[in-house]
Amino acid sequence: MTATTAGESTPTQLTTYLPSAEFVKNAAIPSMDAYNALVKEAETDYEGYWGRLAKELLSWKVPFTQVLDESDAPFFKWFADGKLNASYNCLDRNVEKGLGDKTAIIFEADGGEVTKITYKALLDKVCRIANGLRAMGVKKGDRVVIYISMSIDGVAAMQACARIGATHSVVFGGFSAQSLRDRVEDTGAVAIITADHQVRGGKLLPLKSIVDEALILGGCDSIKNVLVVKRSGSEIAMTAGRDTWMDDVVKGQSTTCEPEWVEAEHPLFLLYTSGSTGKPKGVQHSTGGYLLHAALTTKWTFDLKADDVFWCTADIGWVTGHTYITYGPLALGGTEIVFEGVPTYPDAGRFWKMIQDHKCTVFYTAPTAIRSLIKAAEAKDSVHPKSYDLSSLRLLGSVGEPINPAAWEWYYKHVGGSKCPIVDTFWQTETGGHMITPMPGATPMIPGSCTLPFPGIQAAIVDETGKDVPNGQGGILVVKKPWPSMIRNIWGDPERFKKSYYPDDFKGKYYLAGDGAIRDEKTGYFTITGRIDDVLNVSGHRMGTMEIESALVSCTDLVAEAAVVGRPDDTTGEAVCAFVVLKRSLPMGDEAKAIAKQLRDHVGKEIGPIAKPKDIRFGENLPKTRSGKIMRRLLRSIAKGEAITQDTSTLENPAILDQLGQAY
Ligand code: WT7
Repeated sequence: MTATTAGESTPTQLTTYLPSAEFVKNAAIPSMDAYNALVKEAETDYEGYWGRLAKELLSWKVPFTQVLDESDAPFFKWFADGKLNASYNCLDRNVEKGLGDKTAIIFEADGGEVTKITYKALLDKVCRIANGLRAMGVKKGDRVVIYISMSIDGVAAMQACARIGATHSVVFGGFSAQSLRDRVEDTGAVAIITADHQVRGGKLLPLKSIVDEALILGGCDSIKNVLVVKRSGSEIAMTAGRDTWMDDVVKGQSTTCEPEWVEAEHPLFLLYTSGSTGKPKGVQHSTGGYLLHAALTTKWTFDLKADDVFWCTADIGWVTGHTYITYGPLALGGTEIVFEGVPTYPDAGRFWKMIQDHKCTVFYTAPTAIRSLIKAAEAKDSVHPKSYDLSSLRLLGSVGEPINPAAWEWYYKHVGGSKCPIVDTFWQTETGGHMITPMPGATPMIPGSCTLPFPGIQAAIVDETGKDVPNGQGGILVVKKPWPSMIRNIWGDPERFKKSYYPDDFKGKYYLAGDGAIRDEKTGYFTITGRIDDVLNVSGHRMGTMEIESALVSCTDLVAEAAVVGRPDDTTGEAVCAFVVLKRSLPMGDEAKAIAKQLRDHVGKEIGPIAKPKDIRFGENLPKTRSGKIMRRLLRSIAKGEAITQDTSTLENPAILDQLGQAY
């Protein structure tokens, strides 16, 4: 890789990284010229571009004649008169292409046992589940909730629903009975697919008993059947007439199952995500447009090749697991790793060992995981990536939050061996797939920037009135044209859909991402500055909380992780409040004061005195959801010193709330 120094317009001196000649040689998009040609093609003939790709990447039972239907905007329709089946596209057609004996999934259980399944065997399994569901009366348009941990069964359950045209709604296995109940009620699902238990970090955790609890809470009368996959084999309660072991559901079922050919707009899945207020929203995705972008982004952003071993570490309970485990890699006939466990069990070398063991070539994870593994690696040699053979890797990815340059560079150097491009992929549950990301064989990378829009995506930055802002000036991230994999609706709440994503501020024309962003003056690169409500204004100065976090984390000998929020302040309008996890034990009293001063000075040096946190709070960890997302609204409450009224049911580690009570 070649390294050059970027211009002075970046806040601190950052290096530009170029893909190696070796990577470029076989890349799907091997140059900026190739990237620009695609961007141009989309600009010149938007519908022609997406129509071409939809024909090239997907197999249609009934070809579409219309690409985009805007007649009921913002309820856009794509490929609406075409018919297809997602499961057919992911399984049958690969078998038909001769990939039947190819490994589809390499599953590694929490305890390390490995199970491999070929495309043919996965197709058989999916067909038997699909036939079992049909035998129970589950049909096209019914909703099925899936509450299961990472497993071949989980992926197969999703595919089986897709096969019969049932809309799946996966609920992350870490959610409580109450959250599960709320989602079941909102979907009006007819069945739940779950397992007796899940195993994480050496611990047996319940699933089926939580389903029981959720159903007792009431409001779930629509549920007729609960299908239970055997994971632990331990004794569990089964309700006669409602609960059936999956083994019994599939017993005697045929391994062939005619797919339900659905309209492209047929809802493939609902996935619940938190809004800024109120109850979680059921994000509704389509079949055709969604699958197109899942396949296309896997092909271009992950550059997936026939011999790759792809690993997305996300859970199927989140959109990343839907797009880059269940659908994208399988639609392309790829081989992928599915991991049941956690990155720190039996130790923090687990990811590195698995990359080594399975000769993983493309690895996709979240900055929060990277940061915690940096901390572990620096504390203990045995879990440092250098102790493992990671030479199989050729491409790395990051998702879910901005990756701070210090973490980016560590990932690049210690995991990627300074030879793998990193794709920092910006997208959302609502967008279905990547929106802004480098093309790994083309885009020069700058740590901390997700670089440029995926070809065809009309991302832009505007002010409150919807007017474009010049590069170098931050604003509101919008998407100016509908795209195939966009959210179609909020399940059962079209008004909320319009208000959340197509607000009147922009005359209902632009998709509002809910993030702030800035484009670099020279390169035009996008940097996400955080959710819009995370932008601080201190003494009339605008700054991103991420910028301060990045500065704190760049104090690499001291800081493992940091989160910054604003709180109201009498003199400065807003004040910066930093929550910091140190690489050492939790400090108290004078020692804490001294470290706080040291950190303030560091931030002052990195950005400027205005960015110095007024409050610094130390914790052994940050409050995160089980998916690893920092709960910023909770931090804002703590920062303000107000009572916590938020729902903390999704919090992984409630005990740290006490530690964070003291500000220095
Ligand atoms: C929000 C969406 C993307 C799937 C997983 C999360 C933030 C996501 C990035 C990135 C900066 C990012 C945004 C976005 N985000 N990726 N590469 N750089 N920020 O999906 O739970 O719907 O969250 O995550 O704030 O709006 P999600």
